[in-house]
Amino acid sequence: MSILTQEVEALLYLFAAVCFILALRGLSSPKSARRGNLLGALGALVGVVTVFLAEELSNVGWILIVIAVGSIISVPASRLVQMTQMPQLVALFNGVGGGAAAVVAFLELSAADTLGFLIAVAFTIFVGSVSFSGSVITFAKLQELMTTRPVMFKGQPAVMVVLTLVSLVGAVWLVLDGSFLLGTALMAAGLIMGVLVVLPVGGADVPIVISLLNAMTGLAVAASGLVLGNTLLLVAGTLVGASGTLLTRAMASAMGRSVSNTIFGAFKGGSTAGSTEVSDRPVKSGSAEDVAILLGYAQRVIVVPGYGLAVAQAQHTMYELAKALEDKGIDVVFGIHPVAGRMPGHMNVLLAEANVPYEVLQEMDEVNPQFKTADVCLVVGANDVVNPAAKTTAGSPIYGMPILDAGEAKQVVFLKRSMRPGFAGIENDLLYEPNTTLLFGDAKDSLSKVLGAVKAL
Ligand code: TAP
Repeated sequence: MSILTQEVEALLYLFAAVCFILALRGLSSPKSARRGNLLGALGALVGVVTVFLAEELSNVGWILIVIAVGSIISVPASRLVQMTQMPQLVALFNGVGGGAAAVVAFLELSAADTLGFLIAVAFTIFVGSVSFSGSVITFAKLQELMTTRPVMFKGQPAVMVVLTLVSLVGAVWLVLDGSFLLGTALMAAGLIMGVLVVLPVGGADVPIVISLLNAMTGLAVAASGLVLGNTLLLVAGTLVGASGTLLTRAMASAMGRSVSNTIFGAFKGGSTAGSTEVSDRPVKSGSAEDVAILLGYAQRVIVVPGYGLAVAQAQHTMYELAKALEDKGIDVVFGIHPVAGRMPGHMNVLLAEANVPYEVLQEMDEVNPQFKTADVCLVVGANDVVNPAAKTTAGSPIYGMPILDAGEAKQVVFLKRSMRPGFAGIENDLLYEPNTTLLFGDAKDSLSKVLGAVKAL
């Protein structure tokens, strides 16, 4: 029997929904993000507890066992995961959310009686399944379990068109018929569609697709709220769907792409070119002392941080070096590319961890005109975000993506471990330019050595 009156139940759901809205507000700034996250978690906790108190649940024992198993897996996974692997984890959790919504809707087929209910069920099964399998492929790309380059096979566009038509017919049929067999077929079509949609997306465009899948999970969860008659699921799913859609558009415009170009670009022959092979052209490598001299005698240095800075956890050493240069009267700013690293705002969060003041972090549009007057551009563990192929090589997977114009600085220094390419898997011609110096090694180690050498100047 329900312990709560309907009014108390509605109030608790309202409280949880307000928590979610305040959480989104908090997450919009690094300063309030932690509080926002905690508020979101509180909302979710209140939502879950309310379900137990308000609904007449059967199989409570099984539900508790499943919650315990989920917690045993997810708590250590979230605590132990490296910061740089967080996007993979988020992709997996997102996929699980979409998959759960699809399974719930599938099981609710037995209770489906009205047309609206069946439409919501068909929508949730299909969109949740696309989101699940698409997220798994995104996970594999981010974890580099598979190539990060676009994957296509002959006839793929035709297969996708046929699958879309089959899914549409299947969804309509399911709405008319409501059988588990059709539900299973629609789920299978969704799972295949998710794989086919994400496979052709090239490495550099993965951020956009993550956010798109996130929005899709939100919509599937919202529709599952209709299926289960749960207002909170409807509100939470709609919030995720709306914010995911806005983020997708923002990421796509930051990358100079339309969303459709991100997904279907490879079919136009645009984004499969480029090479993962490392050429044997000569490069100029230098020692930490060489780099210290370049930096120590500069007037203006622009640092371009990237994924490698996060991998090396070199943000603190980076800031110490920046301060040492400033102590010598050198002007240092950080140029932040919107998709540097592996998650939105990755570099801002990383550098905030080292207390780098916000004033020296400059967004791409602000910093780009300044490269011409910079004596040195110090690229620390970044690659794709400074790759000139984005401007010069039509047919490159990153063609059209706005980049930081590092190559315009008088001298460019790259700190990286090898000649391996970045996430998009394509060579960077800037590494071979005569005014480029490479300091090979782990970024933290290299930065410590450069810092020592700068102090000794
Ligand atoms: P990348 O192009 O991936 O380049 C990272 C560089 O860091 C590589 O050149 C790598 O070279 C170097 N590196 C790795 N570990 C290092 C270490 N310990 N010490 C020193 N260097 C190290 O990174 P980026 O320039 O930041 O660009 C981000 C890429 O990821 C873009 O393609 C973007 O689209 C994609 N992406 C972004 C996001 C978001 S939302 N930010 C999400 C998913 C994907 P070595 O291996 O030779 O050291």
